[in-house]
Amino acid sequence: MAATRSRPDDIRAGASSEEPSPARPGGVPQLASGTSQSASERGLGPGPSRSGRAGAITVGIVGATGYAGGELVRLLLHHSGVRLAGLQGRNREDQPIAASHPHLGATGLVVGRTIPEADAIFTALPHGAAAELAAAITARGSALLDIGPDFRLHDPADYPRWYGFDHPAPELLAAAVYGLPELHRDEIRAAADRPAAVIGLPGCYPTVAILALAPLARAGLIGDLVVDAMSGVSGAGRELRQDLLFSEVNESVRAYGMFTHRHTAEMEQELGQQGERGGLGSRGANPGVASVDFLPHLIPMTRGILATCHVRPTRPVTQAEVDAMYDEAYRDEPFVQVVADPPSTRHVYGSNLCRIWARVDPRGSRILVLGVIDNLVKGAAGQAVQALNVLFGLPETTGLEQYPIAP
Ligand SMILES: NC(=O)c1ccc[n+]([C@@H]2O[C@H](COP(=O)([O-])OP(=O)(O)OC[C@H]3O[C@@H](n4cnc5c(N)ncnc54)[C@H](OP(=O)(O)O)[C@@H]3O)[C@@H](O)[C@H]2O)c1
Repeated sequence: MAATRSRPDDIRAGASSEEPSPARPGGVPQLASGTSQSASERGLGPGPSRSGRAGAITVGIVGATGYAGGELVRLLLHHSGVRLAGLQGRNREDQPIAASHPHLGATGLVVGRTIPEADAIFTALPHGAAAELAAAITARGSALLDIGPDFRLHDPADYPRWYGFDHPAPELLAAAVYGLPELHRDEIRAAADRPAAVIGLPGCYPTVAILALAPLARAGLIGDLVVDAMSGVSGAGRELRQDLLFSEVNESVRAYGMFTHRHTAEMEQELGQQGERGGLGSRGANPGVASVDFLPHLIPMTRGILATCHVRPTRPVTQAEVDAMYDEAYRDEPFVQVVADPPSTRHVYGSNLCRIWARVDPRGSRILVLGVIDNLVKGAAGQAVQALNVLFGLPETTGLEQYPIAP
């Protein structure tokens, strides 16, 4: 990132807002007013291209006071092709970033009330909030990269079903790209040429489960599937909740969201599509992805997800075949490492890496695939930066080169 500090003018608001309800962003962020340019004035009218543009990409972060927002700031500070145009936070009035992210205090950045004008806006908000802002953001010519779930599911009917709200921007949803670069790189690139570019970034659990299972889905091998996953507590965000207090979580493990977890919908959508991409026709090719058994657990650590995927294959398969599938799928991927030993969340901590281990049970009855990510990096902010790089035609690893932290 260019070493600029957000000037108050960049992010000041005009409008006041009331305290929003948790379910609906009553105090929705306001767009910076007065200096707005239309998409065509910004060179993003019909026939534009975000890729191949000159100069730093300006970006803004909405929801910058949360965990994902803070992680985005941390990553973008080391991004050579980006300039932070401003940070938005609920009801914040030019608040020093140290108030929400003490570890970033030395940056001198401030968080304000309005959404900055920028080439790209990241939203890191609770579900339903980004969808309400999307039309206004894209009308200004900004690409929208939503870290929340508002643009992940292609069928608008899935929003009332899984998230409890009717999608307010179905046209934008129809054009949105599921922002998992390893599976949808070409579609993200193609979105660069649209006046309204919307990327729905994957959820944390789906990121690791889909990457772990995509090669098997493409081969039509998923006869039955259980995704048994564990997440650190930062996956739930930083909103105060009694069940997330240290004394409730520490030295304890619990399952939650059995049969109802919202991320199930993403796994079914994306793994179903992989079967189709593999030329296998509809989801019937992978009966196990039509209704994924997803069992998440909360464990007493801060970051990291381990997903253990139990697959009953549709036909007998050898380890050599499975090895070849994973090698072909991921040998050229900068952030996916297929490893020889079962991975640990520690192996990816603080990095944009996903590590995968796939084994055929020697007794021949199932395939076991383990995947690990850092939920705040590959599961959220890092993946968002990766998608931004693809969208704007930058080398995909820009700003994401850091190795994991250990021990
Ligand atoms: N945490 C993860 O590992 C992870 C991974 C992938 C995706 N995600 C998704 O990313 C989004 C953000 O997650 P997070 O973990 O960063 O959550 P978080 O730490 O709770 O932060 C949420 C942010 O949204 C703001 N906010 C909360 N309610 C709002 C409302 N009603 N209207 C406007 N702004 C509101 C918060 O402001 P205040 O500071 O004022 O509360 C904060 O800036 C969620 O959709 C989450 O599902 C999270």
